[in-house]
Amino acid sequence: MEKENIIESNCGLLKDIIILGIETSCDETSAAVVRNGRDVLSNVIYSQIDIHKEYGGVVPEIASRKHVEKINKVIEQALVEANVTYADIDAVAVTCGPGLVGALLVGLSAAKAIAYIIDKPLIGVNHIDGHISANYIEDKACVPPFICLVISGGHSNIVHVKDYGVYEVLGTTRDDAIGEAYDKVARVLGLGYPGGPLIDKAAKEGNEDAINFPRTYLESDSLDFSFSGIKSAVINYINTCKMKGLDICVPDVAASFQKAVVEVATFKAIRAAEKKGISKIALAGGVAANTKIREMLGEECLKKSYTLIYPKMILCTDNAAMIAAAGYNKYIKGEFSELTLNASPNLKF
Ligand code: KG4
Ligand code: ZN
Repeated sequence: MEKENIIESNCGLLKDIIILGIETSCDETSAAVVRNGRDVLSNVIYSQIDIHKEYGGVVPEIASRKHVEKINKVIEQALVEANVTYADIDAVAVTCGPGLVGALLVGLSAAKAIAYIIDKPLIGVNHIDGHISANYIEDKACVPPFICLVISGGHSNIVHVKDYGVYEVLGTTRDDAIGEAYDKVARVLGLGYPGGPLIDKAAKEGNEDAINFPRTYLESDSLDFSFSGIKSAVINYINTCKMKGLDICVPDVAASFQKAVVEVATFKAIRAAEKKGISKIALAGGVAANTKIREMLGEECLKKSYTLIYPKMILCTDNAAMIAAAGYNKYIKGEFSELTLNASPNLKF
């Protein structure tokens, strides 16, 4: 590796900055090595989905135990695949919240031990900061400001990214996260877990105008979301069909539900961009992997000559490369954490 290269985009630093990222906030054990916040040298992800599937959702205790079992191997593999050793690492970035407390603690303990032993900075990263920063990896030319629609299993936020790591939250969900709604609807439709990709797939075979589920826009100037109404509407629809002995066309329900939530998310993202006078929109989080949101928001952006960027699928769902990317932006600013850094399950954004 040409470690002493002077990279122009590297904020004037005279060497490449290599960050080891660690992510264990939910059900993915992941470690990654990222150069200068944008070049992924490795991104190892061990997904526990097959284990949690049996229970229809993530079981926190099982998640923590699996992280403990896998974390060292995943980190070792990330170093090997990146062709670096601990001596090459400039800092260790780790998700410190929000997430499952037991799961977060596993990654944090590993990160702290490594940072202490190699005597390099520890950088605590907010998981949402990580999701947004996946866009810097995807699009090497992506620079703030932009509007980011953060949609995942735990979050639904519209964020004004003013600068690297400098955020103004313009809207958030007042009840369920969009991914939660996807997962719940998939469960009642008997599709399994995680629901998002399964609804996405089923919807391709369905008629999205078959059922007119409600769209919740809230107050006319609000950029907040509410997804509990549509979740209940789908459950009511299914129960009513069952009571009346009517057949339920799963692809139609999936497609109609998806169109309703994606329409609202698209409308609010565009409204946020208009409000702030910004013509660049980014997607982030697990639900950003959704085909319909990419398509619908893509079309709206095209109409308005806005730029839309989104990370590739593997960078949308939880991974450590995005944590290393966010960590890099904190490294540049000298925003390091103490070794006493604790897990913050409800860390605010
Ligand atoms: O970002 P993520 O991996 O974890 C959290 O931080 O929450 O997001 C997981 C969420 C799940 O709710 C999953 O169903 C959803 O992302 N998801 C999708 C798709 N792929 C994953 N939702 C809709 N369409 C998809 N293709
Ligand atoms: Zn996530």
